[in-house]
This record gives sequence, structure tokens and C-alpha cells, in this order.
Amino acid sequence: MRPLAAIAPVNPFAAIASRLLDAGVDIERFDGLTEPERVRACFRLVRACFPVDQPNQPEWSLASFSAKWVQGFDGSPHESWIVADASGEAVGCYLLTLPARENVELAHAVLRVPPDRRRAGIGTALLRHCADRARLADRTRLVADAWDSSAGAAFAAAAGATAGIPNVHRTLQIDDDVRGRLPGLRAGAAARAAGYSVLSWAGRTPEDQLEQLAAVHTAMADAPRNAGVEPWVWDADRIRRLEKLTAEHGVVNYTVAAQHDAAGQLAAVTQLVTDPGAPGWGIQQITAVLPAHRGRRLGLLVKVAMLELLASAAPDVTRIVTENAGSNEYMIAINAELGFGVSGVTRSWQLDLTGAAGRQS
Ligand SMILES: CC(C)(COP(=O)(O)OP(=O)(O)OC[C@H]1O[C@@H](n2cnc3c(N)ncnc32)[C@H](O)[C@@H]1OP(=O)(O)O)[C@@H](O)C(=O)NCCC(=O)NCCS
Repeated sequence: MRPLAAIAPVNPFAAIASRLLDAGVDIERFDGLTEPERVRACFRLVRACFPVDQPNQPEWSLASFSAKWVQGFDGSPHESWIVADASGEAVGCYLLTLPARENVELAHAVLRVPPDRRRAGIGTALLRHCADRARLADRTRLVADAWDSSAGAAFAAAAGATAGIPNVHRTLQIDDDVRGRLPGLRAGAAARAAGYSVLSWAGRTPEDQLEQLAAVHTAMADAPRNAGVEPWVWDADRIRRLEKLTAEHGVVNYTVAAQHDAAGQLAAVTQLVTDPGAPGWGIQQITAVLPAHRGRRLGLLVKVAMLELLASAAPDVTRIVTENAGSNEYMIAINAELGFGVSGVTRSWQLDLTGAAGRQS
């Protein structure tokens, strides 16, 4: 634990930090496994941000929020920190993830200050603290996501971070028009996809499909991404762990795949999850087609089949949210054909930790 009193007023953030310092608050690390009340405090705080920062976007349940903040989705080392005011009310928190498998020079931050406590220097104090923690772990860049034109984007720019490529979020309202177009879309895609069969499952992936599913996940490496960021390396264990953790926290995974009949191999996949904290929402995960199988409308085929699967397996899902790099023209064309409309843009912001930006002293 580092008291804010340790912040020396020698950098551009000094005036802001001193406001918080005057308030006499400490940033404290907590262990979510033994301190569930602090997890709940962070959860309440993060939920308070939603209507302001990302209205009309799916929220988390406490269970899936805890899976991320307490266990960490991908098994990477992570730290949770919280700051409360003199009355004990939580006024900021951050989750720092230190990727261990790829991107080992990066640290990823989720940093939140509730709307009614902003512009008082709390975010700056948390950021400086978080940057120091990342440096201690030998990280050279700190990455965080923010919506365009949001307080987060202004804050990141003011801190000296650099914006990455746009990630365009789109939402599909599943109405009668969409449902009515599905048979035609499916027939058009199927006509180009002779020799492939569609498989689907709800819940965890059967053991005998895990290796092949991991192989298709590797096709995500071709999707546009920020400079200096490595794609995830997928294997059966990673998928198994992720699916187990999320299932234990109430998240339901839906998968649709296209299998190449002659080879007996998966060629394309799309996955979506539902979360009890986001009733009515489907949250798109990956859609990928292996390079050798592209150009056969398999991406559209599996996404149409996903909508058909949801109609029977999760009929309460009426909205789907997805995000793609702005330059991912093929995926965007498929989403446009289905009827997705743009709902906003996020970017990753990178703070160079080797320079003076965000230093405590
Ligand atoms: C981003 C966030 C953490 C900032 O917290 P905060 O406590 O308000 O931040 P600070 O008071 O330390 O602000 C520092 C500077 O950032 C800039 N800034 C912050 N919010 C801003 C806004 N809404 N508009 C313009 N500039 C802003 C200003 O330069 C500000 O200094 P100033 O108040 O002296 O002008 C908070 O708005 C938040 O939780 N947003 C949602 C989550 C998010 O986007 N996090 C990702 C951050 S990369």
C-alpha cells in the first residue's frame, strides 16, 4: 500500500494530486478472494459509470465481474486496488493485468472513478500509482480502453497516452425484419459453402472439439490490431480454462462452427456469450475463418446460424453487441448485411512507461 502522501509534487499532475493528497486518502490493494466487500464496492462503482460512459451497452453481473477482477480471465497475474474517501466510500479503483504469455511488455489497466467524484485528481493519482506498479513488473507500456469523446479519452490524452486504432461497436436489434431475412441470407451463404456442415453447441465446448476450435481461433491473428500488440496464442487448455471460469460465473457460451466435410476439420467459428447481468443481450466474441477456407461465405453462414440457434436456445436475447477494428472490412460487411448499426467507438490508449508520463516522482 502506498499512501498518496508519498506523491512528490514535481510533475505536471502535481496540482491535481495535491487536491487528493489534501483529502488524506490511501490507495489500497485488496484480495478479492478474502475481501468480497471490496469486490462489491468496485462493482457498485463500475456500475455507476455505465450510464455516463457507455449507455446502452451490456453490463456485468457481480459474478462475472468477480471472475475478471478476482480470478483474472486468462490466468495472468493481476492486482486490484481501491481508494476510499475519509468516510469510507469508494471513490476509485483499478484492475492491473500483467499478461504473462504474450504481450509481456504491456500492462493493461481498467481504471474507474464514479461520475460524482471526477475532476478532483483521483483518476490521476490512480493512474500514477498504476503506472508505478506496472513499472515494478518491468512493463514498458500501460494500455487502457476508452470510448471516443468520453472523459476516459480526454483523461488519457491529458496523461500523454497515444490513441490506437478505432474499434467500432455495433448493435443488432433482433426484430421481425432480421428474423424474416435469415432464411434468404442462409440460403445465399449455403450456396457458396457446399461441402461444409454447420455444428453448434451451447455451454462448454466438447473435449473432442477443443483442439480444432483453438486452431480456428488462431485465425484471429489476421484481424487488424494495434501496433506492437501480439495476438493471443490459443490452445485447448486456454479455451478450456476460460470457458470453465466463465461458466462457473453464470456466463453461457454459444458456439456455431462450419466443418469441412471432406477433411472433418472445423474451418470457421463464431462465439457469443450471455451474462445474467445483461438480460436480453448477446455479447459477440470471436468470429474467425481459417485462411484456406475464406471466400466461401462461411463467416455469414455461421453468424446466421448463431441467430437461428439463439432463437431456439436463448429466445430472450433481442440485442447483440459486437466490436471490430474499423479497418476489418470483411467482418464489417457481414455485420452490415445482418443489420448491425454503429453504437460507438473505443480505442486502446498506450502510455509509454519509459518516459516521465504518469510517474509519481
Ligand atoms: C477517466 C477517469 C478515470 C478520470 O478520472 P478523474 O478522477 O475525473 O480524473 P482527474 O480528475 O485526475 O483528471 C485529470 C485530467 O484529465 C482530463 N480530463 C478528465 N476528465 C475529463 C473530461 N470529462 N473532459 C475533459 N478533460 C478531462 C483533464 O485534463 C483533467 O485535469 P483537470 O481536471 O485539471 O482539467 C474517469 O472519468 C472514469 O472513470 N471514466 C470512465 C472509465 C474510463 O474511461 N477509464 C479509462 C481511462 S484511460
